[in-house]
Amino acid sequence: MNFKDILSEKSVFINKDALSVHYLPERIIHREKEIEKIMRVIAPVFKNKRPNNVFIYGKSGTGKTSSVKSIIKQFKELPSNGYINYINCRMYNTRYKILQKLANDIVGFSKNGFPPSHFYERIMSWINNGDRFLIIVLDEIDIIKDLNELIYTLTRANDEVRTGGISIIGISNRIDFKDKLDNRSRSALLESEVVFPPYNSEQLKEILAYRANLGFSENACDMSAINLAAAIAARETGDARYALKMLMYAGEIADEKKDEIVTYKHVEDARKNVEKDLVIEAVATLPEHQQLVLYSLSILSINGSKYHKLGENQEELFMMGELYESYKQVCKELKKEVRSSRWCKEYIRELEGLGLVETIGSGKGIRGHSTLIKLLYSKDWIKRTVEGMLLH
Ligand SMILES: Nc1ncnc2c1ncn2[C@@H]1O[C@H](COP(=O)(O)OP(=O)(O)O)[C@@H](O)[C@H]1O
Ligand SMILES: [Mg+2]
Repeated sequence: MNFKDILSEKSVFINKDALSVHYLPERIIHREKEIEKIMRVIAPVFKNKRPNNVFIYGKSGTGKTSSVKSIIKQFKELPSNGYINYINCRMYNTRYKILQKLANDIVGFSKNGFPPSHFYERIMSWINNGDRFLIIVLDEIDIIKDLNELIYTLTRANDEVRTGGISIIGISNRIDFKDKLDNRSRSALLESEVVFPPYNSEQLKEILAYRANLGFSENACDMSAINLAAAIAARETGDARYALKMLMYAGEIADEKKDEIVTYKHVEDARKNVEKDLVIEAVATLPEHQQLVLYSLSILSINGSKYHKLGENQEELFMMGELYESYKQVCKELKKEVRSSRWCKEYIRELEGLGLVETIGSGKGIRGHSTLIKLLYSKDWIKRTVEGMLLH
């Protein structure tokens, strides 16, 4: 085998990038209404008025990031006193990092180690010196640790400027996220609101067909593949990212098997890989102590438990008290501070919300009423996955 052989291998793909979830398509179909709403919020900036803050939410894969990025692209084509700065909060997750990034992007680089007020002052003088409008997109805003403080800082700035101003476009996958804000920042952020509903299977079919057309060679993708990927994704959460990943993996599997046409059979195989990918992504963005609780649960099921019961399908169920013991042990070994058992319950509730565990009331049984917990993925695989993240 040499490079030439590899390069001359046949492939179902013609432009694999176009099927990647990072690709920004020219057209965002079925989002015309949502895009228009957001544009109408931003439009006053072209008349030198501060746009309202806007909060955008909808489940993962409903096209929020792509829609906003395509709006930014169009925004830059027209002259104005406005400047949009896109921030991915997975990377910039504190007030400090965000102020620093903004100051560096708009005014120029300055070293680490300054207090936040330094960056704030630089941003403020940039706004005041040109009567400028700074529009900040905070994508995955719920990840920001000191969000209330950040929103105060940015909204307070508007009282200090003469004619320019700051606006926030917040984007979140978590519908319940608003509850975590305090009243003041909630009403500041929610000057306007835009909701992205999940896609149905017809819409997903069109989205996939559009991308398949760009990504696969002519006739290399059978409609049965698109139909199945769309149907599976629609049944689960209406997530276009999930649907696209299935289609792309299906293509890779077809290539591996040297099949020339991608069909529903490849999609069926691809589905398992995609699910694992999604879990890895969900676990990677969990706060540390939720990772620790999940890890403790996998350890508990591997080491076995004194009290576990078996569920309907013979799966193991664990008691909260026992899980808490395992969690304490894990924290001790990894030299992490132990949180209270009330927190542990709260973490389990959140892990349940993400579909990683399930809880069941035990009814009457051993030790009275208790909550039983079960892991929804293979214990060894979860252990390996979380371990990698905790110990990196
Ligand atoms: N309406 C659409 N048309 C074309 N591609 C889409 C559409 N909606 C979503 N996608 C694709 O699905 C993937 C996930 O979309 P994204 O905008 O990242 O969703 P969100 O930010 O809501 O999680 C991206 O690859 C995106 O290109
Ligand atoms: Mg997004």
